[in-house]
Amino acid sequence: MRGRLNHVALVVTDLDAASETWSKIPGTTVGAPQPLPEHGVTVVFVDLPNARIELLVPLGDGSPVSRFLEKHSGGGMHHVCLEVDDLIAERDALLATGARVLGDGEPRIGAHGNPVLFLHPADMHGTLLELEEVRSGE
Ligand code: CO
Repeated sequence: MRGRLNHVALVVTDLDAASETWSKIPGTTVGAPQPLPEHGVTVVFVDLPNARIELLVPLGDGSPVSRFLEKHSGGGMHHVCLEVDDLIAERDALLATGARVLGDGEPRIGAHGNPVLFLHPADMHGTLLELEEVRSGE
C-alpha cells in the first residue's frame, strides 16, 4: 500500500545483545539472524504489529553498514522504508521535484526480494529514505 511504513533499519554493534534487548519490548517478535552477503549485512527482523524493525550488522568487506559505524560508533538509525505500488512511477515523480536517487537511479532488489531505491539523505533533512515496491497481497 502506497505510503505504508514497511520498516525502520537500525545499525547495532552486537546483534545478539540487540536481539535480546528487543525481545523484551512488548509486542515484538524477534527472528533469527539472516546473513545477506549481497547486501553486506546480517539482519534480524523484529516484527511489530504494524511494521518491522531491522537490526543490521556489517557482513564482509566494504559493507555500507561499516561506513555508517565509522561515523556512528555506537550504532543508530540507518534508514526508514516506505512502501510504494509502482517504484518507477514514484521515482520519476520525485525526480521531477528535484529529489536525488542514490546510485545509478535504477531499482535494485532489496533485502525482502522486492525492488528498492534510496533517496539522498540531504534531500530528506538528514534521513536516508528507502522506497520498496510491494505488490498488494504481500
Ligand atoms: Co531497508
